[in-house]
Amino acid sequence: MLLERRERSLGAGAELFYRQPIQLVRGQGAYVFDETGRRYIDFYNNVPAVGHGNAHVADAISHQQRTLNVNSRYLHEGVVAYAERLASLHCSRIESFVFSCSGTEANDVAIQMARMATGRRGILCTNAAYHGNSDLVGRLTNVGRTQPESPDIHAFPFPDLYRPIAESLSEQELEDAYLARVNEAIERFDASGVGLAAMLICSIFANEGLPNLPNNFMARAAERVRAAGGLVIADEVQAGFGRTGHWWGYEATGFEPDIVTLGKPMGNGVPISATGTSRKLIEHFRGKTDHFNTYASSPLQAAAGMAVLDVIEREALLDNARQVGAMLKEGLETRAANDSHLGDVRGRGLFIVVDVVTDRKSRTPDPERAAAFADRLKELGFLTAAAGAYKNLVKVRPPLVVSKDDAASFLEAFETARREICG
Ligand SMILES: Cc1ncc(COP(=O)(O)O)c(C=O)c1O
Repeated sequence: MLLERRERSLGAGAELFYRQPIQLVRGQGAYVFDETGRRYIDFYNNVPAVGHGNAHVADAISHQQRTLNVNSRYLHEGVVAYAERLASLHCSRIESFVFSCSGTEANDVAIQMARMATGRRGILCTNAAYHGNSDLVGRLTNVGRTQPESPDIHAFPFPDLYRPIAESLSEQELEDAYLARVNEAIERFDASGVGLAAMLICSIFANEGLPNLPNNFMARAAERVRAAGGLVIADEVQAGFGRTGHWWGYEATGFEPDIVTLGKPMGNGVPISATGTSRKLIEHFRGKTDHFNTYASSPLQAAAGMAVLDVIEREALLDNARQVGAMLKEGLETRAANDSHLGDVRGRGLFIVVDVVTDRKSRTPDPERAAAFADRLKELGFLTAAAGAYKNLVKVRPPLVVSKDDAASFLEAFETARREICG
């Protein structure tokens, strides 16, 4: 049996989705197919953002691999043109890029850059963040929850209007309360002599659970960090490339970063990531490090990245994310409205979560019921998963090519699952 062979060859404990895992053999657009030929509509995967098996991307990769693929130490028109095109899509602070192969590496480079630029070491993150799995970047995971703070990494509670840090406050007062926690962490860096190098946050707090934010929190937090001499790093690994209906999450949440990190959907499955910032900062970093990454900044990466941008633009996928996303969100809101186990529906574009609770009054997270939703939706032919800081969110994050018809079918299946699971 494949599961047993997997456990032997990969080791038991390599995570699998669903109580009854599925075996996938093929994908096309927003659809994936199992070994029996059964079709599932993918409402989860964000890496194949322009669609599973996208022909334009596959042709570009294949053509480039047959033509030339070398490391970064040669002049190559495609690599430069790709970096230029990426910069043109960003705010004016982002001019140049260091390419890598994973989100972890992009964040590692961003942290190194910020430390070199400021001469300080303190990194500020949220208490339910995930930015990658290396020794350095992994130290930003769930700080103050599953791992302790360290002298050079401090966390503040992620802003959240649904489960706020204090009850009975207005949105404005909550904004101030969360900013006070950012301030406190910065002051602790100052007091210890470590000093603030950067705040590294996901621009939409994806792993925290897509919380609704006090209106000006992001802009004010960025301002506070800069006033303390630090840099603002926006992790766009989940939020970027149209997911929210904007090119970048920071446009959706209203701030401008000094450094961005990009990954996941960037190559539609080809490992490519990037750290983008001002030319000055990039050159400072390059001057100090001789940075090299064997597979990165290659013609192959650039070809994949270019092809993804082509599809996003040609197929107007930002519009699709906005339109289909609005329809999904509204449909989920309607279905959740009178259900005592569904507390909140949040998100932007094609990234929506349904917050599953034991009851609406206490808002206590109910991860078991969220997992039951994912399992039942899978049986009904739709891929989702339970996620978030409390693992109680039904996470809805389809490829950007998902259609209105697919969204309508999903809403019907969600309603079936809701009746069965929530009674
Ligand atoms: C927000 C965010 N940043 C960074 C990463 C790390 O990316 P990678 O797995 O490509 O190293 C992830 C991965 O899930 C992520 O969600």
